[in-house]
Amino acid sequence: MSFEAKSIDTADKTVFYAELAQQARGLLHGERDRIANAANFAALVWHALPRINWCGFYFFDGRELVVGPFQGKPACVRIALGRGVCGTAATTRETQVVADVNAFPGHIACDAASRSEVVVPLFVGDALLGVWDVDSPEPGRFDDDDARGMQALCEIFLQSLSPSAQTEAAA
Ligand code: SME
Repeated sequence: MSFEAKSIDTADKTVFYAELAQQARGLLHGERDRIANAANFAALVWHALPRINWCGFYFFDGRELVVGPFQGKPACVRIALGRGVCGTAATTRETQVVADVNAFPGHIACDAASRSEVVVPLFVGDALLGVWDVDSPEPGRFDDDDARGMQALCEIFLQSLSPSAQTEAAA
């Protein structure tokens, strides 16, 4: 494996996420395994994004969300649909940007240090695959630019799992 993550030195979030997206494409290219790509994706974001204390996946097992590959402290394992920020993203199908987790009804505090959070729901067609969750110890850490950037990154992750990605890798 020859991938090398380069540190992204810019205050411009659009540029930052565009560069990170480029790195994610390179990192996941040629591999379709969900766990492998989720693990590398979480590691890439963890090392690129400043001021975060957790990032990772919860995957839907047909009943509830179950923690997947992540970086940060050990986390809650199972989250019911509709519960917490993750469960809300899964049921509303909308990205959740929470500036103050303590003000979010039902927020699940896996790490008491977390103050703000962004969660992107992951769908394959109409089917819920899971959610991508990033936490920060800083209140208001994430804004709409972060939400858009995360959504674009998640698209790259989802695309890497698709049969067409396999065809491209084999070509
Ligand atoms: N805070 C999340 C739970 C997951 S952890 O932050 C890793 C929530 O309310 O859904």
